[in-house]
Amino acid sequence: MRIPVVCAGSIAVCCVLASQLSAGRAGEGQPGIVAPSEIVVVGDTIPVSLTGLPGDAVRGRAIVLDRAVGNCLICHQVPVPAETFQGNIGPDLRGVGGRLGEAQIRLRVVDQSRLNPATMMPPFYRVDDLTRVAARFKGLPVLSASAIEDVVAYLVSLKQ
Ligand code: HEC
Repeated sequence: MRIPVVCAGSIAVCCVLASQLSAGRAGEGQPGIVAPSEIVVVGDTIPVSLTGLPGDAVRGRAIVLDRAVGNCLICHQVPVPAETFQGNIGPDLRGVGGRLGEAQIRLRVVDQSRLNPATMMPPFYRVDDLTRVAARFKGLPVLSASAIEDVVAYLVSLKQ
């Protein structure tokens, strides 16, 4: 089903709206899932898996490469030369798993604004303080808890 979205706002808000179309409903209130409101930040990390389980790096790679979901490539480079038009607004993600630990990467994907309130990077697992969210998407994070864990597993695997 196609749902029309008017992208009149910032690039970040467009990313959020566009990705919510395909991300599906996230696990608020599901047993075993850490909801956006229950996130515990320790220093610059989220130490605990949002699902209680390790993510799947193969699924995470697909999410990162999918321009309709996270749209990470509009801002970042990844070690996938076949993907043309990779952005440079954010840091190059090649080798990110060597620079940052899993728990650090989790916080950055969940909500970079906890570290830098002025960041361009949209929060992928936050539901409050979002601007211009269409009513049908209120209360939904862009990525589900398991999608976040899959993305984290892929980024952790990027050691060089
Ligand atoms: C609109 C641009 C944009 C999009 C889209 C975006 N990011 Fe970012 N990202 C940034 C910027 C800018 C930073 C630098 C940190 C800051 O702004 O404080 C960053 C930082 C990061 C970092 C920390 C890297 C480091 O070396 O410190 C990770 C990891 C990351 N992004 C992953 C992702 C993933 C995964 C996606 C897609 C699901 C994504 N980003 C989508 C702009 C973006």
